[in-house]
Amino acid sequence: MTETQRGAAIETMFEEVRRYPPDPGFTANANAQAELYELDFEELWAKESQRVTWFEPWKTLLEWEPPYAKWYLGGKLNVCFNCVDRHVEAGKGGKVAFHWEGEPEDDRREITFADLQADVVRFANALKELGVGKGTPVGIYMGMVPECPVAMLACARLGAPHTVVFGGFSADSLSDRLNDMECEVLITQDEAWRRGTTVPLKRNADEALESSSGVKKCVVLRRTQGEVSMERGRDVFWNEIVEGKSDDPQSCPCEPMDSEDLLYLLYTSGTTAKPKGIAHTTAGYLVGVATTHHYIFDVKPESVYWCAADVGWVTGHSYIVYGPLCNGTTSVMYEGTPDFPDKDRWWDIVERYKVDILYTAPTAIRSHMKWGPEHAERHDLSSLRLLGSVGEPINPEAWIWYRDHIGGGGTPVVDTWWQTETGMILISPLPGLTTTKPGSATKPFPGIDAAVFDEQGNEVGPGGGGYLVLRRPWPAMLRGIYKEHDRYVETYWSKYPGVYFAGDGARIDEDGDFWLLGRVDDVMNVSGHRISTIEVESALVDHQEVAEAAVCGRMDPTTGQAIVAFVTLKGGAEGSPEKLAELRNHVGTKIGAIAKPANIVFTPELPKTRSGKIMRRLLRDVAENRPLGDTTTLADPTVVEEIRDRGTTDQTEE
Ligand code: WT7
Repeated sequence: MTETQRGAAIETMFEEVRRYPPDPGFTANANAQAELYELDFEELWAKESQRVTWFEPWKTLLEWEPPYAKWYLGGKLNVCFNCVDRHVEAGKGGKVAFHWEGEPEDDRREITFADLQADVVRFANALKELGVGKGTPVGIYMGMVPECPVAMLACARLGAPHTVVFGGFSADSLSDRLNDMECEVLITQDEAWRRGTTVPLKRNADEALESSSGVKKCVVLRRTQGEVSMERGRDVFWNEIVEGKSDDPQSCPCEPMDSEDLLYLLYTSGTTAKPKGIAHTTAGYLVGVATTHHYIFDVKPESVYWCAADVGWVTGHSYIVYGPLCNGTTSVMYEGTPDFPDKDRWWDIVERYKVDILYTAPTAIRSHMKWGPEHAERHDLSSLRLLGSVGEPINPEAWIWYRDHIGGGGTPVVDTWWQTETGMILISPLPGLTTTKPGSATKPFPGIDAAVFDEQGNEVGPGGGGYLVLRRPWPAMLRGIYKEHDRYVETYWSKYPGVYFAGDGARIDEDGDFWLLGRVDDVMNVSGHRISTIEVESALVDHQEVAEAAVCGRMDPTTGQAIVAFVTLKGGAEGSPEKLAELRNHVGTKIGAIAKPANIVFTPELPKTRSGKIMRRLLRDVAENRPLGDTTTLADPTVVEEIRDRGTTDQTEE
């Protein structure tokens, strides 16, 4: 049995019997009606393409030459026009696009679609002056400020593909991404607010730009007014370059883009040290995210929708920016952390804006659970009508807690499975239609052909576990890994020819509902964020005193998984609490704070096979405090015993 099968077999023993059938009142008014499942997938995606305004209609729905799909061929459109201009033209310029709330209290802005248009046009005009045009790659390294979506939309308006780099990433991570995409312009801000302190984004950017010489211009938004150094000829302030620029949409028309033109790259961790530049294009992506946003979140014209993710992740791209804006939805956008200044900040926001749809991650739900329901109880959350979850498997206790304590016991909970690569939600209940089960993402979205395969590629029937696959293309699917064709084929399309391999374990139950079981490769999921074991290992080995490192995930009650590192120091040196802190910080500098190991176990040797391969399975057993599996192939079986002794005594909590 392989390691992954073993993992799946353990988890399939668990059975959840609670059922939540839809409320008939909800069903009667739901956006999704049963007919949606009856449409043939081509009919469905042809019909849903009408959600989008086309400058020129598409001619061919789909061209599928595995592993590359093209959608809506021959069509011309612009994403910014669809997300902004057309709503203003339709007379909805006065509708709020974002209720933006800064982390410092009372720092609030109400941004209507007309405001958004004016800001985007002015900024696009400024970018044009800096030399940005159709096809110019632009990097964006910002916090949760309204100017981040403004920058993305301005790029889309000009036809300039962007890559947003999450503000928690380090200078090294930023420069890797800027270099890979060959960005010519970087948009950043002085500092970002985080839990009452500041994150020095411009300082990180300066460091990144030392090794990203292709970036000729750097735009700096003033957010905290913190001091920054500006390089003459390269750095310009946002407020200065927009000064005097026209906000008339005619002064900067939306560039007509081809359906398959690149909209953005978003980098995500894989099983090697180098992040993958996942490519998303224009038409299919927009149709996919707008359609799923409409049906899965049951968004109404009067809705106040809040996706509490960060724009720096795909959830923010698809379900804070492109999906909701395409649908003309009013959203909440919040800059800070859930516990600043107090643990009821989110519930204060829900109450004040009368949020009816909340979309967040299990790790956040578990934090709120840990803090206790009293924080939510202090607020009137009766506006909430629907709750969503994304990022990792949600444990049934958290699901129930979310429904009961946040949703007042009556709101549907939609557990949505998808990935950076899929661009849009692929497996999820449809509220009003689906009987939900705590912990199950339930059914593939209409038109999506998901299945569970065994090692040999046979479809696993009800009750069985295996690997999640997708057998048919979908509009928002990735169009490849930027500049890495072979890696694209190898990662997603080689395990089963012609079939997309998601890298997740899954189980399918008697009703055909899917239960996601976590990653089956060397990818960890910490607080809903993907981090590869090899990336962290490379960062550790990069430290001058580290001889060898092996990294794996262990279960963690709040973050889902936590990172455990096994480290051998050079010259047989012993570890110390100071060394531990130093190594954690080193990983923080190389990748970002999210990748810092929760535990580091210093060990004189790592367990290896006789041919010298590190036995990761054994390290995972140690990290999880499990009985050790087969050790017969080990070169020196005593090593792992020693590590285990250290592992249980040396672990240092965050
Ligand atoms: C991986 C994708 C998609 C936005 C956030 C993460 C895990 C995601 C679920 C879910 C179980 C989930 C998977 C997937 N995942 N949603 N509802 N249930 N697992 O995007 O960083 O690309 O990570 O997150 O393992 O492969 P990402």
